[in-house]
Amino acid sequence: MEINNRPQYSPDGRLLRVGDDLKHIAFIMDGNGRWAKARGKSREHGHTEGAKAFEKIVEYCEGIGLEVITVYAFSTENWKRPKDEVEKIMGLLEKYLDRVIARLSDYDVKLRFIGSKNELSESLRLKIDKTERMTKDKSRVLNIALNYGARAEITQAVNKLISEGRTAVTEQDIGNALYTAECPDPDLIVRTAGEQRLSNFLLWQAAYAEFYFTETLWPDFGPSGVEEAINAYYKRTRRFGAVK
Ligand code: IPE
Ligand code: IPE
Ligand code: MG
Repeated sequence: MEINNRPQYSPDGRLLRVGDDLKHIAFIMDGNGRWAKARGKSREHGHTEGAKAFEKIVEYCEGIGLEVITVYAFSTENWKRPKDEVEKIMGLLEKYLDRVIARLSDYDVKLRFIGSKNELSESLRLKIDKTERMTKDKSRVLNIALNYGARAEITQAVNKLISEGRTAVTEQDIGNALYTAECPDPDLIVRTAGEQRLSNFLLWQAAYAEFYFTETLWPDFGPSGVEEAINAYYKRTRRFGAVK
């Protein structure tokens, strides 16, 4: 790949801007429950703190020039959790959307929800539609994976193609039928809280992503954690199957 813009650093070595070779970071925001448990607090409290970390990280990622950020907020499997916890997570998302709508000029992100909206409450769905509409002309993309599962995403993509009458498909056709069709694949996938698995996240898009795992729990993960992950990314050699 031809790299026109290299990452930029301050004289003391802090990352100022990412280069052309890092456009998209996806985060698996894990560890809110363990963070709360370690403090003798409810899991719900952990999600409140996790939501604060999410907002700080989005702002930081925007500032260093990333084109796309994707965050895993709620999986198709997370419905197995207690009702109160599910309601808390959905409520935090609604509050975030209210803030985005109220302070639209402060945000330079195009919000996109990836996942199935059908199972969400009507009020959340309406707010999602409204925010997606109101931010559609912003330059950077923030994908929020909500009621998202990669297997469900691939399955709906294939069904969409079948309903269009296709009897054979290409990789490109499937890519174009995914929720992330308009985004480049993630260059880097970061998972906090020690688990080293994808938990049904971006299975198709992750084909050549670099992975970064950290023990830090999501509510403790901030801009400096992202910077460390990016520094690790820049030490990797991506070959995409070729010989360097
Ligand atoms: C991630 O934190 C947030 C969601 C899955 C919604 P967890 O709630 O999974 O936290 P742990 O893994 O139980 O610590
Ligand atoms: C993955 O985390 C989903 C999100 C971060 C939203 P989980 O905590 O649900 O994943 P598992 O159960 O540990 O695999
Ligand atoms: Mg978890």
